[in-house]
Amino acid sequence: MPESNKRRILVASMCVITLLLLLMYYKKMNGFSFTSLQTFIQPQKNGSTFPRQPLPSPPCNCTRGSVLLKDLLPKEQREAIVQRRAKEFQQHKARTSSVLSKLLYALPNSPLQYPIQGYTVRPLTPTLIPVLGLHAGERDSYKVFLNVSKGILTTVTPDTQVTVKGAGTRELSIESISLVVLNELLAKVLYTSSIYHINSGDLAFFRFENHEAVFPIAIKQPQVPVLYHMGTDIRSQVTILTKTFLRYPQLKVLLASIRQFYPDITVIIADDSLEPERISGKNIQQYIMPPAQGWFAGRNLAVSQVVTKYFLWVDDDFIFTQNTKIEEFVKVMEAVPELDVVGGSVEGNRFYFSILYEEGDEVEGGCMIRKSGGKFHPLPGFLNCSFADGVVNFFLARTDAVRRVGFDPQLQRVAHSEFFMDGLGLLMVATCKDVKIGHQPKNKENTNPRYTEFRTAKKSDSDFKFQLHYFKNHLKCIRYS
Ligand SMILES: *[C@@H]1O[C@H](CO)[C@@H](O)[C@H](O)[C@H]1NC(C)=O
Ligand SMILES: *[C@@H]1O[C@H](CO)[C@@H](O)[C@H](O)[C@H]1NC(C)=O
Ligand SMILES: *[C@@H]1O[C@H](CO)[C@@H](O)[C@H](O)[C@H]1NC(C)=O
Ligand SMILES: *[C@@H]1O[C@H](CO)[C@@H](O)[C@H](O)[C@H]1NC(C)=O
Repeated sequence: MPESNKRRILVASMCVITLLLLLMYYKKMNGFSFTSLQTFIQPQKNGSTFPRQPLPSPPCNCTRGSVLLKDLLPKEQREAIVQRRAKEFQQHKARTSSVLSKLLYALPNSPLQYPIQGYTVRPLTPTLIPVLGLHAGERDSYKVFLNVSKGILTTVTPDTQVTVKGAGTRELSIESISLVVLNELLAKVLYTSSIYHINSGDLAFFRFENHEAVFPIAIKQPQVPVLYHMGTDIRSQVTILTKTFLRYPQLKVLLASIRQFYPDITVIIADDSLEPERISGKNIQQYIMPPAQGWFAGRNLAVSQVVTKYFLWVDDDFIFTQNTKIEEFVKVMEAVPELDVVGGSVEGNRFYFSILYEEGDEVEGGCMIRKSGGKFHPLPGFLNCSFADGVVNFFLARTDAVRRVGFDPQLQRVAHSEFFMDGLGLLMVATCKDVKIGHQPKNKENTNPRYTEFRTAKKSDSDFKFQLHYFKNHLKCIRYS
């Protein structure tokens, strides 16, 4: 051994000895000991190691200026509505939550090896549990336990050195004098769900001596992709949608402006006018609805007829200009495929907003703030666009994503933000400033008094909307800021 190596070993040993002496000194001074360190890292056996129940969500606070929705319920029905809402909410929870939302954590110094994310099985299908293993020091014998609650556990038939108990049940134990053999068997443990469910989960407990771990098992039916075979021309990519009601002069101006820039793109018109007038033209589809079905019913009808990957929503009194570049919207959508809705600017107004929502407690419900002008960071590669939670009435949207959320046809008049409220957490939304559309001027000639009468929100409309938020959205209060 060269002289320099000998010296290094000497220095290293001195360091170790000094450390040990220091540690002994500290032990005297602070009552610190190896045994107390041991008990610190031991999992506690009193049931508090892993939370068995998720913590209930705390009540949310209604900030100043909020509308307290319960107060707007008709007095004589209030109690009954509260009870019906509670029952519906429990069903909603049963449909949307599973054990997989429970907080799981790993304790320090565990000899157990197990998957913490990504172990997904199909319902009723045996699936290998990956990476299961034990890394323990020398013992006379090694014994591990595994249990689950919505399925069974199996492994291969063991050889003579191993004892397997509970194969084919919810609880499996494997014992062996050889760690190698034990790990060979652990590597072959299969989980088979005994329930059919398309999107649920189970928790597996894995134990060795005092060490316990919990890991999630996602039980899922895989989803079949639904893809749109899109051409290269705008007509095969986008359909323009609008809804009209008693405003044929404006609609005709809009259609003429569309044809100026997009001569053959398909336009779908949902029409619930009282005395419908026939609108014809190449690639124009007018759907006549029963009279005065309302705003969202018309949007739903129009969206239901789209066969292209995207649709562009416009109001019947908008007007296309040379800045109404649908291609720009498509470019953004294609470049950022997570996006579902991208809005533009109407006569310089982008009316984007963010939504602050807290679920609140089970009894009272959630709190929501619609914050006008609220947006998030710019889209990567598109500095003129930013993420938001909702946008103006002029937007390009991914057809299938919007169909999944839908426009609630109960909302007849005063509705727009409500679509984005229903879509929070389901739709990725952005607003862009360089795609613009015009608004037709409001003047005597194009103001129809009958239209105004129908369209103007009455107090009963906003009361109805608040009652809908109370029940349907399980909200306690809402604020527009
Ligand atoms: C159970 O564990 C908690 C959390 O560490 C501890 O505070 C409590 O004293 C323990 N209870 C018993 C009975 O050991
Ligand atoms: C609501 O306000 C109370 C009192 O100001 C506060 O203690 C509580 O943490 C708030 N709750 C939430 C969910 O912010
Ligand atoms: C699984 O075992 C743990 C202890 O390791 C126990 O607390 C739990 O109740 C068991 N679960 C089932 C479903 O038997
Ligand atoms: C942003 O929009 C302006 C016009 O409003 C345009 O000149 C510019 O090129 C756009 N920037 C990007 C990154 O697209």
